[in-house]
Amino acid sequence: MALASTTTLALSILFLLPFLSSATVEEEFHEELLLKPLPDRKVLAHFHFQTEAPVAEDSFARHHHLFPKSISQLVKKFHIKAMELSFTQGRWNYERWGGLDPISSQNAKPPGVELWAVFDVPQHQVDAFWKNLTHSLSGLFCASINFLESSSSYSAPKWASQSALGSLRYGTLPREAVCTENLTPWLKLLPCRDKAGLSALMDRPSIYRSFYHSQRLHLKASMAPADGLDSGIILEQTLTVVQQPNIQKTDLSFSNEFKIQPSWSLSSIFGRKVNGRCVLAKSSNVYLQVERDLVAQLEKLQKKTATYADNDTGIDVLRGDLGFEVSITPDRVHRELEKSSSILYEYSIKEYNDTEQFDLGLTWKYPVVWSCPLAPLYASRFLIGSGNERGSIAISLKSTELTKGFIVANNVEEKCKLQVNVLQIVPWYIKVYYHTLQLLVDGKPQAATDFIERMSVSPSEDKVSTGVMELVLRFPCEIKSAILNIEFDKGFLHIDEYPPDANQGFDIPSAIISFPDFHAGLQFSDDSISKSPMMSKLQEKSPVLSYTEVLLVPLTTPDFSMPYNVITITCTVFALYFGSLLNVLRRRVGEEERLLKANKAPFLQQVINKLSSRFRGGLSESTQPKQPSSSFITPKLIIKIILVAGLAVVWQFYLK
Ligand SMILES: *[C@@H]1O[C@H](CO)[C@@H](O)[C@H](O)[C@H]1NC(C)=O
Ligand SMILES: *[C@@H]1O[C@H](CO)[C@@H](O)[C@H](O)[C@H]1NC(C)=O
Ligand SMILES: *[C@@H]1O[C@H](CO)[C@@H](O)[C@H](O)[C@H]1NC(C)=O
Repeated sequence: MALASTTTLALSILFLLPFLSSATVEEEFHEELLLKPLPDRKVLAHFHFQTEAPVAEDSFARHHHLFPKSISQLVKKFHIKAMELSFTQGRWNYERWGGLDPISSQNAKPPGVELWAVFDVPQHQVDAFWKNLTHSLSGLFCASINFLESSSSYSAPKWASQSALGSLRYGTLPREAVCTENLTPWLKLLPCRDKAGLSALMDRPSIYRSFYHSQRLHLKASMAPADGLDSGIILEQTLTVVQQPNIQKTDLSFSNEFKIQPSWSLSSIFGRKVNGRCVLAKSSNVYLQVERDLVAQLEKLQKKTATYADNDTGIDVLRGDLGFEVSITPDRVHRELEKSSSILYEYSIKEYNDTEQFDLGLTWKYPVVWSCPLAPLYASRFLIGSGNERGSIAISLKSTELTKGFIVANNVEEKCKLQVNVLQIVPWYIKVYYHTLQLLVDGKPQAATDFIERMSVSPSEDKVSTGVMELVLRFPCEIKSAILNIEFDKGFLHIDEYPPDANQGFDIPSAIISFPDFHAGLQFSDDSISKSPMMSKLQEKSPVLSYTEVLLVPLTTPDFSMPYNVITITCTVFALYFGSLLNVLRRRVGEEERLLKANKAPFLQQVINKLSSRFRGGLSESTQPKQPSSSFITPKLIIKIILVAGLAVVWQFYLK
């Protein structure tokens, strides 16, 4: 009996097993879009696509239903633990579009291409894998990522990721131009491409017309289930676009100091509407985020108008009259945990189809002025010095309102400190003198050692490796400004190391400034919202991070036009020489004929001939037209020919 029951159990397990495994082995795809009005009359659209696939041991040649096979093969082949590749055009405006929210920390990327990858291989093999990975990626995304192959263009920061010490590689190509040829392969990784669902909104002209767009691919693979995570690959694709809606003529009854924000809709921003979801997606949602400060401003406005009962609380207020109108009633409204915090409208686009399209619109009723939360210190970077020999890089940090808030929050502590991490990578032809590091705090020079807690420098080696400087700084919270200054010499490149258009200058990649004490992340309590991959990503506690500007350094460049000039002038001389020689050889017969004709012709004809010969032949012939044939080889002419030939020879030798 017991035996029978165990066998049935075993059998049922055997039968259940494939079912169970197929249940856990399911691939998933989610598509989401976050819209957010920005204070400077622009709109942020953040697309988020997530594809997940489990990984079995023998899945190298496995067919995937949703997950892009090229990516899973990439992960398998190069043993990638995590990877991020971004293509960006434009610069995120940290002052106006915010520097503290998760979008700016995770999705605001430096211009051009940025790639980092963590490999799951022994440390001495990491470089070989990185090189092969850059080649594969450059083929996959039609970009010159393979330039990151040479050891002088990537680096291995030490503290950027503690967990991935030694197996992380980081490289950027600030000058890479981003265009549709990079977007199309990125879209091909989506199960519905751009044919259905939210990705159908991606109208190329409106994306590439935008102020800022960043297309990002983030991979996370966990092979061994022992990590505590499920074994599988998570592919996250995001596209962040900042656009300016067309400004419509609204009535000008509002005073000039406040201009009403432009109203917009999906169709006015992208020129397209959503025709329903991608049927392969597990969830297709659109979110509209109203920022904390905007909510506060709108609530203030309402109090002013005083049309509300005292009883109104939270969401009820928002269901009522806000400063703007949304064209579609949201399916759900979420509010952040704290009072007076950001609000999120949620729309599901499941029910929409070709006949009933989803076109979310926002119409402002009153002019509102608000601001985005800024990073604790606003970072910018610039060059000092002139000339082609030396200069210095300065990183300036300025306090923002948040720093004051931080002081208030940390008032209890006697000595409040603000930690700032700086990662600066410089190409080898910028020879940085690390001992010249100077620190100015609040305008006064200070001993750098008082503020630098840790420092790691790996100087560059000519044509071999980049220079990496990592700093951990601790400033007092009441700091107003700090400037880090470091001097450099400009190196010389070999003529074939210059990129095309070398006179434009050379780019120093953005420095990365991060604030580990601060965390970007929204806090919604709803369980339903945590199921959404995008929202759970935005709720993750990630350190606040900002990128500085890319610097353009003019280097000494050879005069690339010189060979061209020499060729041109030599050719001119030769043309002159042969031209006049042929002219002289040819002229005698023609001149004779013309003269013969001229003698027979009437007076008027003679005059015309004389004039035309003067035009064609110049002065020397027309002055002596009467005695041509006999004096063909005059000494004057010989001198002339010798002179021209001599000139040509001189040029020839000069060239050599
Ligand atoms: C990288 O590619 C080269 C050339 O295809 C190959 O010989 C080498 O084995 C590859 N290395 C790794 C680590 O994949
Ligand atoms: C507030 O609400 C309570 C019951 O919900 C009601 O009795 C009271 O009159 C309201 N107060 C105001 C000012 O509307
Ligand atoms: C589109 O959706 C509407 C309402 O949801 C429905 O009445 C209509 O039949 C649908 N049209 C198609 C073509 O499915």
